[in-house]
Amino acid sequence: MTKNLEPQLERLEKIMSRLGYGARRDVPHWIREGWLTVNGEKPKSASAKVYADEVELDGKPLDHPHGLTVIYHKPLGTVCSRKEEGRIIFEDFPERWLGRKPPLSSVGRLDKDTSGLLVVTDDGKLNHYLTSPKHHISKTYAVTLDNPLTGHEAEVFASGTLMLEADDKPCLPAELNIINENSVNLVLHEGRYHQVRRMFAAMGNHVTALERTHTGNLSLASFNLQVGEYQSIEVEPLKQLIE
Ligand code: URA
Repeated sequence: MTKNLEPQLERLEKIMSRLGYGARRDVPHWIREGWLTVNGEKPKSASAKVYADEVELDGKPLDHPHGLTVIYHKPLGTVCSRKEEGRIIFEDFPERWLGRKPPLSSVGRLDKDTSGLLVVTDDGKLNHYLTSPKHHISKTYAVTLDNPLTGHEAEVFASGTLMLEADDKPCLPAELNIINENSVNLVLHEGRYHQVRRMFAAMGNHVTALERTHTGNLSLASFNLQVGEYQSIEVEPLKQLIE
């Protein structure tokens, strides 16, 4: 996950394509028009080997040439995968980001009816680090319930014995912090499909609103992001905020 900090020489056409600006074949045209510069000079050819940091398009430096990670406030009603129906989260980002290689993906998924904190990154190692159960990175959810708590939920969730329908292993122990009889915070140490909703369904209740508020110690509230907004962050500071 540590980025190679040594700048790499790359072909200009490759840089422009991997950052989603367009196809390699478009680059000669951008050079001829004078739109692309390297260190302020017109490059000799699209295959010139250059440092991405020294390239400008229309007088602007390139967008996150060494990897892209964002903290995103996911709105309700959006989906994290193209396999699901609905408006995809990537519509909240610049269109160019969809053409980036490696591609951006969300760290885990929030379901369509869940809002809140989502990390989106093109860094596969970071993604694995944040999702692998080995690293014990908790996720905290603010949950609103249809029916009042019965009083047994905290004990059952903490026990590590709760079996969810169709699963073959019980849930890992989870912490329930009660705010009032219809609203709680739940801290999970794993990420199963619709886990919060299914845990409360197993207790005979129904989740009416769900928001992810934290990943580890990182709090969405500390970022002051409106719904649908995002902010880029470097990998190491992100890890420090989470751990
Ligand atoms: N649990 C759920 O039920 N949905 C989510 O999106 C995340 C956790």
